[in-house]
Amino acid sequence: MNDIRPIIDESRPKVYIETYGCQMNVNDSEVILSILQDAGYALTEDITKADVILANTCSIRDNAEQRIWGRIDQFKIQKRNREGVIIGIVGCMAERLKDKLLEAVDLVAGPDSYRSLPSLLEAVRPGSPQINVLLSHEETYADISPVRLDKNGVSAFISIMRGCNNVCSYCVVPYTRGAERSRDPHTIVREAQTLFDNGYKEVTLLGQNVDSYIWKDGETVNFARLLAMVAEISPELRVRFSTSHPKDISDEVIHTMAAYENICKHIHLPVQSGSSVMLEKMRRKYNREWYLERVEKIRSVIPDCGLTTDVIAGFSGETEQDHKDTLSLMEQVVFDSAFMFAYSERPGTLASRRYPDDIPYELKTERLNEIIALQGRMSLKSNEKEIGKRLKVLVEGPSKKNPDELCGRASSNKMCVFPSCGEKAGDYCEVEVVSVTSATLLCKRL
Ligand code: 5AD
Ligand code: SF4
Repeated sequence: MNDIRPIIDESRPKVYIETYGCQMNVNDSEVILSILQDAGYALTEDITKADVILANTCSIRDNAEQRIWGRIDQFKIQKRNREGVIIGIVGCMAERLKDKLLEAVDLVAGPDSYRSLPSLLEAVRPGSPQINVLLSHEETYADISPVRLDKNGVSAFISIMRGCNNVCSYCVVPYTRGAERSRDPHTIVREAQTLFDNGYKEVTLLGQNVDSYIWKDGETVNFARLLAMVAEISPELRVRFSTSHPKDISDEVIHTMAAYENICKHIHLPVQSGSSVMLEKMRRKYNREWYLERVEKIRSVIPDCGLTTDVIAGFSGETEQDHKDTLSLMEQVVFDSAFMFAYSERPGTLASRRYPDDIPYELKTERLNEIIALQGRMSLKSNEKEIGKRLKVLVEGPSKKNPDELCGRASSNKMCVFPSCGEKAGDYCEVEVVSVTSATLLCKRL
């Protein structure tokens, strides 16, 4: 069994890890460190002391990959200064660009091959890079206790499944992370219990599409049941999850959220577009009406539920009307916040083969800016509705702007700032919202 926190041991060879991309990748880096610690390595946060430099990478958009190429050049400076330093690229980009990467670095490992990292590192020789990018139908790393890399020991990620079986036409993830597989629920509950026993107060259950979580072994455990199992560990342990898919989020999940006070009332429900024409072409398998019905259902069962989303501007063939449909949906729903992107064509995806990337860069940017500006107004509107409400906040630590104040999240995932009464990270505080910005709720103590 591994320690939950990184081992400090100056005598061990040192590994430095940089993480890019999604929360899943953040958790994967914790799995990687666990595997490497077991093999005798220790973490360093100082790249100049590293024997092994790893970048856990993302391929979701072209700019994510371009950043990594830039970083590889910088890593190579370390190699010039100190002989024997190994540079490794792991994660989604390793899977997608294996051949090109093998010419640039010493080690390339995909998301399902982290168990082989110790033997790959062992085998690296000058001029003889090592690679394993095999994808698996079974690997879930269920038996590996991630070594936690978060700063404050309050909130941790737990991967409940890997891969993705959806075929959203724009998305590279099914190619980089392989087929969907769920993890044994008992190992998930055990991991959450260990975190709680070590002082953590919040776990976020992660999957590309959590609603399709399913475990059949005598009993059948679906996502709603899994949520309840984790929530029952303790009322003091908050449970969050991400990401939900609008086509799959079930009434049972919504009712389970409502039934447990400690399941946070927040759903990240990526809409991608407000146009049914675009949604069809994106192969999202729902239309505008379906999405709005799901939002209505969520709000009828959980009136204060936080709702956030992802939006893509300028997908293939997007007309002015399609774009207006996205804006009008955003205005209708009033999301708390959104991640907003310009469409980036990814080689190998269905869209790259079938649909031209035909919206000019300037127009994509113009539409994206319009979407960002509208969301700013919607975030403010959504926050203004919170004024006067009493909220229970989990303290994350001192506020960045004013160290005499604390910050933390409400159940809805909205960020709150309030005067300190000496509490520390991991304590709960009762507050009342006094005023707001588009990003923060400014609160007083109760
Ligand atoms: N271009 C732009 N954004 C994308 N996303 C996924 N693929 C692409 C792409 N090719 C966005 C989606 C998804 C989020 C994680 O990234 O909005 O929900
Ligand atoms: Fe995460 Fe997708 Fe990026 Fe892979 S490509 S790291 S799954 S966001």
